[in-house]
Amino acid sequence: MITINEHFLKLKAGYLFPEISRRVGSFQKANPDANIIRLGIGDVVKPLAPAIVEAFHAGVDQMSQADSFKGYGPEQGYDFLINAIIENDFKSRSVDISTDEVFVSDGSKCDSGNIQEIFGLDNVIAITDPVYPVYVDTNVMAGRSGEGDEQGCYAGMVYMPCTAENNFTPALPSEPVDLIYLCYPNNPTGTVASKETLAQWVNYAKENKAIILFDAAYERFITDPSIPHSIFEIPGAKEVAIEFRSFSKTAGFTGTRCGFTVIPKEVKAYTESGEAIEVNRIWNRRHCTKFNGVSYPVQVAAAAVYSDEGKKQIDENVSYYMENASIIRTHLQELGIEIYGGENAPYVWLKTPDGRSSWDFFDQCLENAHVVGTPGAGFGPSGEGYFRLSAFGFRDNINEAMQRLKKL
Ligand code: MLT
Repeated sequence: MITINEHFLKLKAGYLFPEISRRVGSFQKANPDANIIRLGIGDVVKPLAPAIVEAFHAGVDQMSQADSFKGYGPEQGYDFLINAIIENDFKSRSVDISTDEVFVSDGSKCDSGNIQEIFGLDNVIAITDPVYPVYVDTNVMAGRSGEGDEQGCYAGMVYMPCTAENNFTPALPSEPVDLIYLCYPNNPTGTVASKETLAQWVNYAKENKAIILFDAAYERFITDPSIPHSIFEIPGAKEVAIEFRSFSKTAGFTGTRCGFTVIPKEVKAYTESGEAIEVNRIWNRRHCTKFNGVSYPVQVAAAAVYSDEGKKQIDENVSYYMENASIIRTHLQELGIEIYGGENAPYVWLKTPDGRSSWDFFDQCLENAHVVGTPGAGFGPSGEGYFRLSAFGFRDNINEAMQRLKKL
């Protein structure tokens, strides 16, 4: 008899964003004339920048000619893209990364979800709360947790609350943990971590032989020059951290798919007998076994993100979204709503008015204003009483959504 992986049955609800789509879909079906503005999932709306489209076309043209056609490429990504990444994202910040420490992939959701499988099942997982659900769910699926409770907390995982009370900065865990997920600029709260905060985590990881999984998918939205873009800007981080990067939000690749993971050779995890193993080697083995690389035209398009024209055009798109965030902040502040984030990240995190639950506020916004946001409780128990608005929208829709919220 075939059996199922019962760990999947522990998952409390459907994955957050499909669940929201389902609710919005049924509302739309019942109200076909409602003009719904979607500021829920952080999905970009602006098209690929011209420099990227041009490169993408050129990549496709190369695939159409026998003398430039490409079959399987290197699983880890082409050197032209890896070198552009190293030069622009790391060398420019005095971080020394070598080509065999970068793994190009089809996005950081996949990498941040898959990475856990190279670590032992008995590792203790620490996550900030609220959190991007992928980190939790993939560990539940693998069997690194017990059952979930009513609030969606899984036994055996260490939750590190991030609320207005602690300025959204998680305290170091009081019990030993092995795998620490950090995301900065943060999804969902839109808040950032200073160099000092990250240095504390790096020290913790070194002292406890732990590893930090650092999701930097939103680094391009940082406006404050004192905020680090990479955890590797912190001395010692290359011994204990893995970083995930994405072209999705930065360059509008949510539908094109490309990201990368950086695993320095110094990062080690241990066998039961205490032997130190290079994590880079194990991930490389996994990557080559399960992945055949990102398509050539997509990698050519991604490399154009680093061309002079590409950088300029992408900066314009990032500024557009950040201007949206600023409009959202201003309007909500005028309404007397407590808000956080949105200054170095494309998400505004707000406290629901009158102490309403996150899902109640979601329903109210959907039914009465036809505006979709993301209920904070969907990101974890400490997200209850909060709500996330994404700044990824067209300006007219952002303005219209704010007018409608005013009338709520
Ligand atoms: C979000 O809305 O949190 C993101 O779009 C999810 C993702 O990047 O997978």
